[in-house]
Amino acid sequence: MSVKSTNMFRSMKLRIIPVVTMVLAWASCEAPQPKDVNPNGSSELAILMREMFDDGERIKAQVQRGEEPTGLRDFAAIHAAIPTDSTVKTLVFTAFAESYLESVRQLEADDSTSVYRFNRMVDQCMNCHSEFCPGPKKRIRKLYIE
Ligand code: HEC
Repeated sequence: MSVKSTNMFRSMKLRIIPVVTMVLAWASCEAPQPKDVNPNGSSELAILMREMFDDGERIKAQVQRGEEPTGLRDFAAIHAAIPTDSTVKTLVFTAFAESYLESVRQLEADDSTSVYRFNRMVDQCMNCHSEFCPGPKKRIRKLYIE
C-alpha cells in the first residue's frame, strides 16, 4: 500500500471505530459473547461488576440501618479488568470509571449524609451503563435508596 492510501485507510478507521465500538459495546451486555475470555464464560470485568453489585446491596442495607458503610472495597481494578468486548475500554470508559471510584471515596469519607453519597455512587453506575451497557440498568436502579 502506498503512503497515501495507508493514510486514507487510517482516517477512515478513525471515523468508523467509534461507531463500531458503540454497537459492539451495546451488544456485549445483552448476550453472552462467543469470544468470552474466561473459561467459565465471564469476563474479568463482568465478574468484578457482580462483586460491585453485591457490595452495593450490602452497603445499601447498612446505610438503610443508619450504619456507617464499612468494607467498601477498592475497585480500582475496574481499569485493568478485561471486558467481554475489548472495544469498551475507551477514554470515555476511563473517565466514567474514575467518576465512579471518586464517588466511592466520597461515600467512604462521609458518614453523616451517606444516603445521599450512596445514591450518588449509584448514579455513577447508571451513567457508565447508559453509555456502554444498558442491560443491567434495571437491576442497578433497584440499588437506589428512596
Ligand atoms: C466505567 C463503566 C462502568 C461503571 C462505573 C459500572 N459498570 Fe457495570 N458494567 C460495565 C460494563 C462495560 C459491563 C459489561 C462487562 C462485560 O461483559 O465484560 C458491566 C456489567 C455489569 C453487570 C453485569 C455483569 C454480568 O453478570 O455480566 C452488572 C450487574 C453491573 N455491571 C453492575 C454495576 C454496578 C452495581 C455498578 C456500580 C457500583 C457498575 N456496574 C458500575 C461498565 C460499568
